[in-house]
Amino acid sequence: MEVFIFKDSQQVAEYAADMICNLLDFKSRAVLGLATGTTPIATYEVLINRFRAGQISFKRVTSFNLDEYIGLQSSSPHSYRSFMNKHLFDTIDIDPARTYLPECSPGQDPRSVGPDYEQRIVAAGGIDLQLLGIGGNGHIGFNEPGSSLGSRTRVKVLTQRTFEDNSRLFNEGDFQPHMAVTMGIATILDARRILLLATGEHKAAAIKDTVEGAISAMHPATVLQQHQRVRVILDEAAASQLEHLDYYQWVQLQNDSIAAKHGGSADEDPWFHN
Ligand code: PGA
Repeated sequence: MEVFIFKDSQQVAEYAADMICNLLDFKSRAVLGLATGTTPIATYEVLINRFRAGQISFKRVTSFNLDEYIGLQSSSPHSYRSFMNKHLFDTIDIDPARTYLPECSPGQDPRSVGPDYEQRIVAAGGIDLQLLGIGGNGHIGFNEPGSSLGSRTRVKVLTQRTFEDNSRLFNEGDFQPHMAVTMGIATILDARRILLLATGEHKAAAIKDTVEGAISAMHPATVLQQHQRVRVILDEAAASQLEHLDYYQWVQLQNDSIAAKHGGSADEDPWFHN
């Protein structure tokens, strides 16, 4: 795992956007794995600004989101489809027909969504870069504690903690789903590159476990330790409980000096090599 620590959430967003832009520079047909939640919004804002400035195009990109609620119409303001439209898709030049979420249409058996979604990801050539947030309980996507580390896209019932964490986004009286379809942990691990973003003090304990704890299904994000190309992008608050913080900062400085000497473009960054 490579751990990057930045001063604040804006620098985290700039760095994540840089990685996405670098990828699109050499692979305009990239397949992006996208996430909802408060954390990636700042990254999407940076991408939108760069798109508006003519620095980046999503015309040939395909995207797969991590998860979608069961029981909401896609047009509901609380659906993750609506979230993505509002925070990214409606403003950029991505082809809406190539933006996928594991959506369950009314009347559809939610158990049939996962296998289809897996097939679509494979047919698109697999995910080049997956963006992840992290839940306070260590979930990635909606893979709650106890999720099989070999899981694939499927129905998950949300824990009470996740339900309560997410209730801030619903108004009183609104229907708030208890279930979702989420990419599985093995699906996420299949991505060629992963960026895990975390900002704020309230993520510090989950990040400490993810980076420095033992791999456990009870803290699903720890499984990322097994992936070859994961970058954990943190602000100082989210990094504040890391025991080896000084070491990660030292490594970052050394890597910066290698990049300054030998080139820091995507072509020269081993993270982008297949
Ligand atoms: P957040 O959610 O970005 O809103 O904190 C992250 C998550 O639950 O995965």
